[in-house]
This record gives sequence, C-alpha cells and structure tokens, in this order.
Amino acid sequence: MITRLDLFIDRMVSQRACLDFGIRETASLSGPVFELGLGNGRTYHHMKHNVTGRDLYVFERAVASHPDSTPPEDRVLLGDVRETLPEALKRFGATASLIHADLGGHNRDKNDAFARLISPLVEPLLAVGGLMVSSDQMYFDALREMPLPSEAVAGRCFIYRRDA
Ligand SMILES: C[S@@+](CC[C@H](N)C(=O)[O-])C[C@H]1O[C@@H](n2cnc3c(N)ncnc32)[C@H](O)[C@@H]1O
Repeated sequence: MITRLDLFIDRMVSQRACLDFGIRETASLSGPVFELGLGNGRTYHHMKHNVTGRDLYVFERAVASHPDSTPPEDRVLLGDVRETLPEALKRFGATASLIHADLGGHNRDKNDAFARLISPLVEPLLAVGGLMVSSDQMYFDALREMPLPSEAVAGRCFIYRRDA
C-alpha cells in the first residue's frame, strides 16, 4: 500500500531532483528562469539559491509565500497564468532557459485538464536547449520528454526539452 505520506515524499524528492537537474543542465544558457506557482515559496527559495547569473521571475495569482521566499515585486507576473503566460511571450519571446511549474492542487483530473490548457501557452516561451520541469504531465507538440534523474520517481515529475 502506497500511503499519502509516501506519495508526498516521492513528489518532494522528485521535485528537488528534477529541479537540480534542470538548473544544472541549463546553466550555460543566459535566458530567464520562470517559476509558475509560488505557493509557500519552497521551490522558489531553492531556485533563488541555486540559479546563478539568470533572472528569476515568478507567475502567481495571489502572493502568500513565507517571508523568506517572497520575490521582489518587479520579479512577479501577478495574475492568472492563462493571461500572464501570453503577456510573458510578448515581453520575453522564446528566451526562457528553465521553466518550473507546480500549479496543481489535490484533484488529479483538474490538474491534468489545466496542464492540457496551459501547455500551448508554456511551449513557445522556451529557448532552444531550454528545459521545462513540471509536477504534472504536459502536452507539448515540439518538446521532447527527457528521462528523469535517478533519484526521481516516475510519474511524480516530468522534464521536457526544446531540442531545436
Ligand atoms: C502547489 S502551490 C506551489 C507550491 C510551491 N512549488 C512551493 O514549493 O511552495 C500552487 C500555486 O500555484 C498557484 N496557481 C494555481 N493556479 C494558478 C493560475 N491559474 N494562475 C496563477 N497561479 C496559479 C496557486 O495560487 C498556488 O500558490
């Protein structure tokens, strides 16, 4: 029996392993890094302390993070990602080196429907060589799903790359 605690731990371990992989693999790119879904700010805090030499922007509809993990106002794209992702495309073009998304809640079907909805909004933002790390499976046309790092648990995190 896999308990909810087991699933939670698998998700956290996988999230950190995939984020660390994504940060490392894209370190030679200079484009911005996007965090979709700030929440408490744990993954933002991890990225802030591990991403160097790149601008980090956060997409969130309502900032309510831990004070240690609250981004500067000028690094927040405040609002619903269905609106802020298209705005980001106009502002940044296809330049993102790394996009991390953790937008979901407890309902897997709703998370999946939302991932389908925003996949075409995320896809054009990624630079060639850029990676997307997501807690939910995404539905991309031109991005390749990558093998997970060995510490990650299949199905708990997903990594996609723009090859060309
Ligand atoms: C699971 S939490 C993120 C947790 C975060 N990764 C952490 O480590 O603390 C999901 C966040 O996504 C945000 N979110 C969900 N749907 C959104 C949407 N359509 N537009 C903008 N933000 C959204 C929620 O407000 C919430 O803060």
